[in-house]
Amino acid sequence: MITLKSPHEIELMRRAGKITAAARALAGEMVKPGVTTREIDRAVEQFIRKNGAVPSFLNYHGYPGSACISVNDEVIHGIPGNRMLKEGDIVSVDVGACIGGFHGDCAATFPCGEISDEAQRLIDVTRESFFRGITRAKEGNRVFDISAAVQEYVEANGFTVVREFVGHGIGRQLHESPEVPNYGMAGRGPRLLRGMTLAIEPMVNAGAASIRQLSDGWTVKTLDGKLSAHYENTVLITDGEPEILTAPAI
Ligand code: MF3
Ligand code: CO
Repeated sequence: MITLKSPHEIELMRRAGKITAAARALAGEMVKPGVTTREIDRAVEQFIRKNGAVPSFLNYHGYPGSACISVNDEVIHGIPGNRMLKEGDIVSVDVGACIGGFHGDCAATFPCGEISDEAQRLIDVTRESFFRGITRAKEGNRVFDISAAVQEYVEANGFTVVREFVGHGIGRQLHESPEVPNYGMAGRGPRLLRGMTLAIEPMVNAGAASIRQLSDGWTVKTLDGKLSAHYENTVLITDGEPEILTAPAI
């Protein structure tokens, strides 16, 4: 079932979204050579709690962190730990926060010091594919209109979209209906209605789309070992322009 949020619920989601976006920004500022992914995770957790919210990911299906921190060929769900970031890494940070019964969910990929031109292009294309996607995120359109716009932009730039993981509805639950794939046929999928809230999250690989899951049960990596980037915001569907609830978008 796709839930439609009332004006009051939307106000609560704005509040959750603001905290989530600020946690993402904080994490991004910490991405520097010599910092461990655990230090970033701790800071994210402290920030979320200081703001009266609860980290959405912590203990979700047993997930052991407050942030997912995925470096280089890690696509998503990287577990924070002793890994020390180094110059040239690209670092995807995904955070979620819950307050007033509603979740926010957002992510971005950050450069660690100086990175290659190709890595920067991957980050830029991934981010822009989200913004291409939300040009279609409007009442009356269909979910896969968003999907097709993301896919088209990514592939036109020579990169690939991950298929096994998708965006999602979000609200009282971190993951709600509908699924929001980053590939698909325009004109298909559920109709978009005002009051829907969607986490739209392109996961983009520099090489092939194929991924593999590590034996830690979480970390997802590219099969070919090439780089991957991620960008996500929680978005409200209206009868006009979509509203990014995890604002400010980075
Ligand atoms: N943004 C990711 C998602 O929507 C968050 C993963 S949550 C985790 O799936 F708790 F499972 F890590
Ligand atoms: Co998400």
